[in-house]
Amino acid sequence: MITLASIADMQAWSDATRRDGKRIALVPTMGALHEGHLSLVDRAHGLADVVVVSIFANPKQFGPNEDYAKYPRTIERDLAFLEERGAEVVFTPTADRMYPPGHATEVKVLGITHCLEGVTRPTHFAGVTLVVAKLFLAVKPHIALFGRKDAQQALVIWRMTTDLNFGITIDIAPTVREPDGVAMSSRNGYLSPEERKRAVILSRALRTGFDLWNDGERNAARLVQSMRAVLEEEPQVRLDYLAAVAQETLEPVETVVSGTLVAGAVQVGTTRLIDNWWVTTDGKGEF
Ligand code: PAJ
Repeated sequence: MITLASIADMQAWSDATRRDGKRIALVPTMGALHEGHLSLVDRAHGLADVVVVSIFANPKQFGPNEDYAKYPRTIERDLAFLEERGAEVVFTPTADRMYPPGHATEVKVLGITHCLEGVTRPTHFAGVTLVVAKLFLAVKPHIALFGRKDAQQALVIWRMTTDLNFGITIDIAPTVREPDGVAMSSRNGYLSPEERKRAVILSRALRTGFDLWNDGERNAARLVQSMRAVLEEEPQVRLDYLAAVAQETLEPVETVVSGTLVAGAVQVGTTRLIDNWWVTTDGKGEF
């Protein structure tokens, strides 16, 4: 495994690897790696010849009152995990290299960035699309993998990749969960033991809706109502949104059919958590 920090070195490696006829997969991360991230690395090995993992806590995607300063940084541990999982390259650019003085270009996806997460995090997705576009141009992958846990992010990136003709396949991978059902997240570490116990209510509520859907319920309002009722059992967890939306537009739907995303966000203490389930375009439910 090699570690590259300079964008020029990364591009040179990718050019040489492409000349050798190898397929490159990119797994973008902000570090503080857990089994959710590592599942993307394993999956990437099945889809390409070589796997590049980027680690960059991107300041542009954090709002002014968000957790950029305290975002966990565990680089030594991350590198050990990636070595174990057989990543070929770890790309670790610094903020000065990604955003040198004078940079003035934005990459923004309109429409689908304003709802759901975009309501409380109005500048977030512009930061994500800018950094992912830069990572795509540095790593030049054939395929890039994203987690369905951050479903809106994956859909926004798919839109950007399509609209800008990057020619990169976007793969959206299943959510890895803790034994109690909570979706793995670097932010779970912020929770006190008490809050961690309460946090399970989000996945429990979503799971309730998913089970009802599997039993044949398709009415979005009734599904959302059943999930809300579960969330209300934990009054200390504040609901931000819970919605059934179409994957292309992220607009609310009346019926949960193929291509519907059912997504929720809650605030537990000072920590914001998101989770979802999805009916894929071929009609398969994924929790
Ligand atoms: P980060 O939160 O580090 O997540 C990196 C990738 O891991 C994302 O695609 C995310 O959806 C995926 N992931 C996180 N938790 C997961 C879980 N429990 N199961 C499966 N996949 C999971 O998302 C970002 O970083 C950044 O916004 C980034 C795309 C790197 C741009 O800065």
